[in-house]
Amino acid sequence: MRPVRWGIVSTGRIARTFASDLRHVREGEVVAVGSRRRESAATFAAEFSIPRAHGSYEALVADPNVDAVYVATPHPLHLENALLALEHGKPVLVEKAFTMNAGEARVLIDRARATGLFVMEAMWTRFLPHVVELRRLVAEGALGELVLFEADHGKWFERDPASRLFAPELGGSALLDLGIYPVSFASMLFGRPSTVRSLVTPSFTGVDGQVSMVFGYASGAHALLTCTSSARSATRACLTGRDARVEIRSDFYAPTTFELIPRFGESRIFGVDVPGRGLQFQAVEVARCLEEGLLESPVMPLAESLAIMETLDEVLGVGAGA
Ligand SMILES: NC(=O)c1ccc[n+]([C@@H]2O[C@H](COP(=O)([O-])OP(=O)(O)OC[C@H]3O[C@@H](n4cnc5c(N)ncnc54)[C@H](OP(=O)(O)O)[C@@H]3O)[C@@H](O)[C@H]2O)c1
Repeated sequence: MRPVRWGIVSTGRIARTFASDLRHVREGEVVAVGSRRRESAATFAAEFSIPRAHGSYEALVADPNVDAVYVATPHPLHLENALLALEHGKPVLVEKAFTMNAGEARVLIDRARATGLFVMEAMWTRFLPHVVELRRLVAEGALGELVLFEADHGKWFERDPASRLFAPELGGSALLDLGIYPVSFASMLFGRPSTVRSLVTPSFTGVDGQVSMVFGYASGAHALLTCTSSARSATRACLTGRDARVEIRSDFYAPTTFELIPRFGESRIFGVDVPGRGLQFQAVEVARCLEEGLLESPVMPLAESLAIMETLDEVLGVGAGA
């Protein structure tokens, strides 16, 4: 497989992690970075030995050496930046949350389909070895009928009104930044919920700061999910089936281990050591999809990214003022 030549849009925190993690695999390499400021792109390029630094996102997506674009800007810019990449004929990996809302997600998906270019939400958790293993166990029936999924994602953030987590103009939202992980994990396991209940508490800037959710599914299963930008929570997850449960250790959404605890018999621990933060596995998936000529990933399909955005909209809508 020829390595995908990546261009990164932005020089922020997750852009750095992606550039660093990509060094652990052969399926991709960062060949260019684009920033609003030329100096920022140059510094980033020097740090990660990236050959090309661009002083605008437009120049980055127009770079003929770039095969695929990774959009790593704040959520309100995802749609605009991804459309720019598509306009220049580039497949795109778009950071989570995919867009600000379901309406934007529809626009992006329609454009991807119209241009016939690959697009995927960068929900990196799906591609981590322990999550791949969990899907395998569920598919082979090791847990029996699934009954309940519980997960929390709480992080402590300084109460800074200019922070991406709290500033409305930067898409501030505990749900879009943190709650998306439990919500996406539940979607991966059960699909779209048939019932959505939520409690939303605003932060000091008015954007959602703490959200608790109860989802119901046609199968009868439930998901209990919560997130907060006020405090560090346990960040564990537990999937309970009639025959066994899986306890995923903290942080459940990052490389970790889990324990399979059957109703009868011995428990087993699963997990492998992963170099770096683990963002490289999603890049391997993009490389595989591009190699096979796929326009979306079967593991993180566009219809599901849209359904997740619809669920997030519903959570905030139902919870607002409650
Ligand atoms: N996968 C993960 O684990 C993970 C973790 C954290 C965040 N994320 C997602 O990645 C995205 C970026 O998060 P981050 O934590 O990397 O954010 P960040 O550190 O604030 O970086 C965002 C970058 O976007 C660019 N940008 C463009 N317009 C901007 C504006 N008006 N204000 C601020 N920055 C602007 C800037 O790069 P230039 O100045 O170079 O243009 C900035 O460095 C978010 O959607 C977030 O949800 C994912």
